[in-house]
Amino acid sequence: MTFVIYVCREPNNIRMKFAFCLVTFMFFLAFGQTASGRGNIKNEPDSVYLFSYGTNGLRFAWSRDKNEWTSIGDGYSYVKSDYGRWGSQKRMVAPYLIQGRKNHWECVWQLNEETLQFAHAGSKDLLSWGPQSYPYLKKGKNVLRPIITYHKTTDSYLIVYTDASNKYFSTTTKDFKSYTAAVSVTASSYKNLSKTVMVAGVKTQGQLHRVPWATVNGLTKNFEINQYKGLQNAESSKDDEHRFGNLKNLTASLILQPERAKPISTMLTGVFFEDINYAADGGLYAELVQNRDFEYLPRDKTFRDDKWNSQHSWKLNGNGTAFTIDSVKPVHPNTPHYAVLDVKAPGATLSNSGFDGISVKKGEAYDFSAFIKSLDGNGGQMEVRLVSAKSGILVAAKVDIPSHEWTAVKVNLVAAAAADDVTLELLPLQTGRVALDLISLFPNQTFNGRKNGLRQDLAHAIADIHPKFVRFPGGCVAHGDGIANMYNWKESIGPLASRKGDRNLWGYHQSKGLGYFEYFQFCEDIGAAPVPVIAAGVPCQNSGTGGGGQQGGIPMSEMGSYIQDIIDLVEYANGDPATTWGRIRAEAGHPKPFNLKYIGIGNEDQITEVFRERFTLIYKALRKAHPEITIIGTAGPFFEGTDYEEGWKIGSALNVPVLDEHYYQSPGWFINNQDYYDRYDRTKSKVYLGEYAASLPGGNKTNWETSLAEALYMTTLERNGDVVAMASYAPLLAKEGHTQWNPDLMYFNNSEVKFTTGYYIQKLYGQNAGDKYIPASLTLSEQQENVRKRLAYSVVTDSKTGDMIVKIVNLLPVTVTTTLNLAGFNIEGARVFKTTLSAKPRDKEVTQVVKEFAATAKPEMELPAYSFTLLRFKTDK
Ligand code: AHR
Repeated sequence: MTFVIYVCREPNNIRMKFAFCLVTFMFFLAFGQTASGRGNIKNEPDSVYLFSYGTNGLRFAWSRDKNEWTSIGDGYSYVKSDYGRWGSQKRMVAPYLIQGRKNHWECVWQLNEETLQFAHAGSKDLLSWGPQSYPYLKKGKNVLRPIITYHKTTDSYLIVYTDASNKYFSTTTKDFKSYTAAVSVTASSYKNLSKTVMVAGVKTQGQLHRVPWATVNGLTKNFEINQYKGLQNAESSKDDEHRFGNLKNLTASLILQPERAKPISTMLTGVFFEDINYAADGGLYAELVQNRDFEYLPRDKTFRDDKWNSQHSWKLNGNGTAFTIDSVKPVHPNTPHYAVLDVKAPGATLSNSGFDGISVKKGEAYDFSAFIKSLDGNGGQMEVRLVSAKSGILVAAKVDIPSHEWTAVKVNLVAAAAADDVTLELLPLQTGRVALDLISLFPNQTFNGRKNGLRQDLAHAIADIHPKFVRFPGGCVAHGDGIANMYNWKESIGPLASRKGDRNLWGYHQSKGLGYFEYFQFCEDIGAAPVPVIAAGVPCQNSGTGGGGQQGGIPMSEMGSYIQDIIDLVEYANGDPATTWGRIRAEAGHPKPFNLKYIGIGNEDQITEVFRERFTLIYKALRKAHPEITIIGTAGPFFEGTDYEEGWKIGSALNVPVLDEHYYQSPGWFINNQDYYDRYDRTKSKVYLGEYAASLPGGNKTNWETSLAEALYMTTLERNGDVVAMASYAPLLAKEGHTQWNPDLMYFNNSEVKFTTGYYIQKLYGQNAGDKYIPASLTLSEQQENVRKRLAYSVVTDSKTGDMIVKIVNLLPVTVTTTLNLAGFNIEGARVFKTTLSAKPRDKEVTQVVKEFAATAKPEMELPAYSFTLLRFKTDK
């Protein structure tokens, strides 16, 4: 009954609140105690009929007499298929459910109309489901309407299916891991026991079961709890006017308890960089020419854009010249395509407008370079110029066209004026056939002056967060859309012409100009630990079907060389220049090690048997070869559910030091789950919250409410900094006009960075980290739970500076006058820097006020409505 009382305090809409509480209360009154033991409830049936059915989800209805059916949770779905790409590919067709060995539930279903695979998942209670598997079969055209039966005598399961030619096949299994080879069977072997009943007025096909009432009770309760959580997650400041209509300004007192201080991770705030939303090419990577190597291919867009080919972004202006693509004797076989200009009459230009126009600054230098050769031996010259659509030619220079052999040419261009609408133009000055490749225009000024470096403003914006680590090169990008698309670090290093660009799973092309060397270099430049993430031998769980996609996994026979690549990565990063890979790093200009300490294996994978086998192999081999490396495993894409549970099981069994968790949730979720890590077992793996963000429904960008919800949750990360080792908001960057994923921390165009309000939160946390957490007790003048949970605090000290940092989040619509009791701290002479960020919840901009004052033993301050306050007590240690 405690649960019901709690519910009645929570819901956010007054009417819904009352209705929900009433329904829940009635429900628990009626059935609430049946799960824990019988006795109090009269007229409760011993057992009932359960009907399982569904399309795109396994659903249930129950009946006492097989005539009148009550749908459970109004058709709520208890299992969803996880096979195939996000969205419409994830289908569950004709689920077939039975009870098998020891009454364990086993469900099989059809995946689609093409695949020679079916799906299986099992459960002991219909609520918590084990990993899904999608066994491959070799008989038939496809797998349609599979059915399953359990055979006690052989203790095995028989799965029979039909196919597009109306033939029948069967396979058997004892453990749902290995299956006998499928064989042809007669139609009479297909004993489909499905029945048709009326559920909610609709004729529905499914399977009939007899179950104890507790099973139905459990399903209903599970639905109700999920409904309740849904209401909590939907809590929004939009309802604050009603929710806190009578709330007056509050007072609070925070008493620190230094005697309970505990050490916390010094790596808590980091960043996660992924080449999503054009974050790399066209973004952080400073190259200004798009498709510089003519390697854009139709498959980058899975043939969705017929203009997406090797000539993409290039245009021939004028007559007398032909522009074609060739691949005979390229600069490097890894980038086989190059441009050929066949000039019959000079005058035409080949132009590239970069990523939505090239942006240049007045008086700044730009380095032009290209590989050129004359195909007919005529040689000659080519004019290179930067031309603004509005202002005309900003700069022009000539380069020689060398005869016969590919030759790297370079020229420095200084822009005469600033412009955002610039194209790079190439004008051969004589007739002849010229081949061109790797045509590049780089700002001479890159972040930290690195060659092949990064865009200054974006790199500075990241550096300003003071991230303690950078996770790269991505999540989904790292494990790829199918095996062939997994990110291969070896293809991202070395001379640019040798780097193998690839289809980016986010629907464009990744040149890998920003590759592992540049990532390591950037980490070093900003003092962050590099955290490369490598696929766990399986591609993204949302990979398209076919082509070894989904969780097909690298064949076990190839895992040896795959693992060697990972071991080689450690040598590349840390090895002596005398070693094979250490030498390659040294030759690239970095003889000193990059000090790699962490490697992530896997990214929010579907935790299947295929995953487990491969992850275990990699983990054991890497740990043996490099015990000094901290390996980060993965616990699926959500904060709960099958992958999360299975991921943690594997992590615990193997003693994986850190597990990567991801969750993108509503502000309401973050407000209502502040105890998420308080409950974690301190003896198990540590946590890396590798991807998180608070977002609004409908794919909206962030606002001050989402940022405050994150700030509030981050106080809990600091409080649990003994178990949470690292955290990074995601995604980091998004280019305007090329954003596949919202929200992101920073948006940008070619000349500007646009910070979200969440960016300032990340920056304040990153710049004000500590290594010790100081518990405190908070007394608030109002004890109501929904008021209390909207005020959060965290106090840390930093042993390097001796400073103490207090962070307080006020997500309430009223001012909270707060007194800090610092007894036990020697703050005499300390200066206090107080930073306050405040705005209205739906604002996209936030006001920051910084004040400095002398510390007192009991400072008092006003926390404005919807604000984040940070106090830094500087001790000048
Ligand atoms: O952060 C964007 C994507 O979210 C990542 O690629 C993936 O890991 C997650 O699904």
